[in-house]
Amino acid sequence: MVLRFEAVQKSFRDSEGSVPVLRDVSFDLEAGQTLALQGESGSGKSTLLHIAGALEDADAGHVWVSGKDLTTLDDRARAVLRRTDIALVFQQFNLIPSLTVAANIEFQAALSGRVDPVHIDRIVAALGLSDQLKKYPEALSGGQQQRVAIARAIAAKPKLLLADEPTGNLDEATAEDVLTQMLNLVSQTGATLMVVTHSPIIAARMDRQLHLHGGCLT
Ligand SMILES: Nc1ncnc2c1ncn2[C@@H]1O[C@H](COP(=O)(O)OP(=O)(O)O)[C@@H](O)[C@H]1O
Ligand SMILES: [Mg+2]
Repeated sequence: MVLRFEAVQKSFRDSEGSVPVLRDVSFDLEAGQTLALQGESGSGKSTLLHIAGALEDADAGHVWVSGKDLTTLDDRARAVLRRTDIALVFQQFNLIPSLTVAANIEFQAALSGRVDPVHIDRIVAALGLSDQLKKYPEALSGGQQQRVAIARAIAAKPKLLLADEPTGNLDEATAEDVLTQMLNLVSQTGATLMVVTHSPIIAARMDRQLHLHGGCLT
């Protein structure tokens, strides 16, 4: 089991008081599985993903990543797990503008002490980025920037790849290409993928589909 949620709850405070976002969320994700998470805007998809990625805490319940209960880990252990086992891809790419494409791709792998040049070369070739390595992110198209973000995430050989509307900023044809390349890499590396998407077409390409509604999964 790469990811397990058990009775997870999460609320946020606003001026009116506490607003429940996740009421009772339980699911498992096996190694190598791909899962699409769908739901209306504001239904808590990003919140769920951030909790899975150890970026945010659950208020109640348990979250296991690679068999470790996040709710029992101290900050240091969480940071280590985040570096070694988890990678995130966001809609906004989040590349480091002052680093070249090559340095961006190595960045996360370097943090986890896992730079594997052969692995990185393979990813770069699969994503068609070989001619872009010396450029800076600003010189790239949106689709190319998202390919770099995907390369950076997979370069570190994560067990769990979490992608939050990764193709939401791309035109349809580019989104389809980028997604196909991401899925190919995920299956080649054996990573487990949870992807938040509004697209029924993208969702249909995952092994499993879950919907978040009223703070619960269906
Ligand atoms: N840090 C936060 N502080 C307060 N409210 C938040 C915070 N993050 C998310 N929310 C609220 O939680 C709800 C779910 O947000 P989110 O997880 O971003 O939904 P989705 O990704 O499905 O659009 C929204 O009502 C949002 O306003
Ligand atoms: Mg969101």
